[in-house]
Amino acid sequence: MTENYVRQNMTGYDSGHDWWHIERVRKLSLYINSHENIADPYVLEIVALLHDTVDSKFAGSNAANGYKLMGEFLERIGLAEIKIEVIAVIKNISFSNRNPTGNLSDPILLIVQDADRLDAIGAIGIARAFNYGGFKNNPIFLPDDQSDIKVPSTINHFYDKLLRLKDMMNTTTGRRIAEERHLFLKVFLEQFYKEWEFGINGKI
Ligand code: ADP
Ligand code: NI
Repeated sequence: MTENYVRQNMTGYDSGHDWWHIERVRKLSLYINSHENIADPYVLEIVALLHDTVDSKFAGSNAANGYKLMGEFLERIGLAEIKIEVIAVIKNISFSNRNPTGNLSDPILLIVQDADRLDAIGAIGIARAFNYGGFKNNPIFLPDDQSDIKVPSTINHFYDKLLRLKDMMNTTTGRRIAEERHLFLKVFLEQFYKEWEFGINGKI
């Protein structure tokens, strides 16, 4: 039922926030919890499924209404008693949320936040970053030596956000998965610069 609600709410989203992102975050969340055993798997799954329905769909201006609809949905499916917790956790998940509220050590928050961040690194994270950059028509890379203006390239986003996520993990299991994905980001960057230099200097 929650799955249908999410699918309906998310049709037409950008492909970095599509159903498959939700599906990966759901699986990662359940996997992390199977090692950590700190959250109720049922509520955890609901939160993983709902975690992007408000942010992307109502993009800021109409977020309050988004949360209202989410609350109504939870009541409809008989989950009124966890409504407050679910909504508080979802408000706190986003990387860009600067106004955290409520219980910041709720185990569900810790897990879904890790899962969401893990999906932004590794091979899939790289694919999502270039997809986003393409959507915004950003350059893939601009050597930043010519100016001190911060360039909005996708490689720049690696330094702004992606390479920092490993050290922001909440759970041990999340950190373990992040290590591997972080390493892959670094290998990717090394190869990227090697090829870039080859194009410029004709040397490997
Ligand atoms: P979330 O909603 O999960 O907190 P965002 O909406 O900020 O994350 O980002 C969704 C995806 O788009 C992530 O994979 C993120 O790395 C990528 N992304 C966000 N901003 C940029 C950017 N400026 N350049 C490239 N990729 C980006
Ligand atoms: Ni997400």
